[in-house]
Amino acid sequence: MKKIKWGILGAARVNERLIPAIVQSDTGELIAIGSRRKGAAKECLLKYLPEYEDKVSCFDGFDQIINHKNIDAIYIPLANQEHTEVALKAIRAKKHVLIEKPMAIKSEEVRILIEEAKKNNVEIMEGFMYAFHPQFDRIMSTIKSNILGDINYAHSMFSFPIQPARFYRINRSMENGGGALWDIGPYAIHTIRQCFKENPKGVKALAKLNEHGADISTSGLIDFGNDKRATFDISFECTRRSEFEAFGALGRVKCPIVWQPENKQAKIIINTESSGLTEEVVPAANHFVLEINHFNKVVSSDIGLKLSNEDALWNARTLKSIEQSIKADGWVNL
Ligand SMILES: NC(=O)c1ccc[n+]([C@@H]2O[C@H](COP(=O)([O-])OP(=O)(O)OC[C@H]3O[C@@H](n4cnc5c(N)ncnc54)[C@H](OP(=O)(O)O)[C@@H]3O)[C@@H](O)[C@H]2O)c1
Repeated sequence: MKKIKWGILGAARVNERLIPAIVQSDTGELIAIGSRRKGAAKECLLKYLPEYEDKVSCFDGFDQIINHKNIDAIYIPLANQEHTEVALKAIRAKKHVLIEKPMAIKSEEVRILIEEAKKNNVEIMEGFMYAFHPQFDRIMSTIKSNILGDINYAHSMFSFPIQPARFYRINRSMENGGGALWDIGPYAIHTIRQCFKENPKGVKALAKLNEHGADISTSGLIDFGNDKRATFDISFECTRRSEFEAFGALGRVKCPIVWQPENKQAKIIINTESSGLTEEVVPAANHFVLEINHFNKVVSSDIGLKLSNEDALWNARTLKSIEQSIKADGWVNL
């Protein structure tokens, strides 16, 4: 398989994970990094991959990468509200695009991205790295095996006390992509959505907002129809939690740490009426490398995306409805 040549738009903190992942993937090659801030792309490369100083080009701007003839795929780790505009430019330049979660903060924008990608015959994917960890496949195979029965209820919790250095994540309103909802909410919502065959029918959420209109904490209820439901709790002021649990009539599956740091062993607890409690250890894996390898294979062969564009659309739709529910203080139907 030919190596997929990558460019990165934005000198973001998450590049700490993705820059090494592109280089470590056996199917990808990092060609260039661009930043709108002078010197920031070079600084980013030297910080996260100093040994590649002479192998990766650094640009003060995005156009050189978007129009780069040798680049096949672009990774977009921009602030949530900036994804769409830049992704559209990359798509129209016929680049495949991996867009960090959330793909966009409006479902209309996700729909436009999907349409443009189809029109330009390129692949786009929302960057949920955790779905490439073998732990995720094990949770899904447990649920699909039906040993728990149909999932009637799921719950996810994601929190950590936000550090002052990260206050820029809560200095803008939810409508502008700020707060816990658009930062850690995508994980909490995406995971519980995977447990149900149906898409959400309605949501009701309660949040604590700061002076900028960003949510510091949000708890909510999602109705999946047929009396199936899920709850979630995300917070920048509670102690660290990264938990997920799903329940059927015959048993339950729990992940004490579902959105894993890479290279850490994972644990899955399964408890069924018939077999009792079992704890499984899932070997460590770098989900960022696995995500990049998957996307490389998708763009260079005819295998399909593990995370469909329809999934990204429903993610944005659900998160936006949660935002609307917070503001309206009531149920919002999807
Ligand atoms: N998958 C994951 O594990 C994971 C983890 C964290 C975040 N994310 C997602 O990745 C995206 C980026 O998150 P992040 O926390 O890495 O973002 P970030 O560091 O705030 O960077 C976002 C963008 O802001 C600009 N920027 C960075 N530092 C700046 C500074 N000091 N002053 C002004 N502008 C600056 C950069 O663009 P320029 O270089 O062009 O200025 C950068 O691409 C978000 O969508 C987030 O939801 C994913």
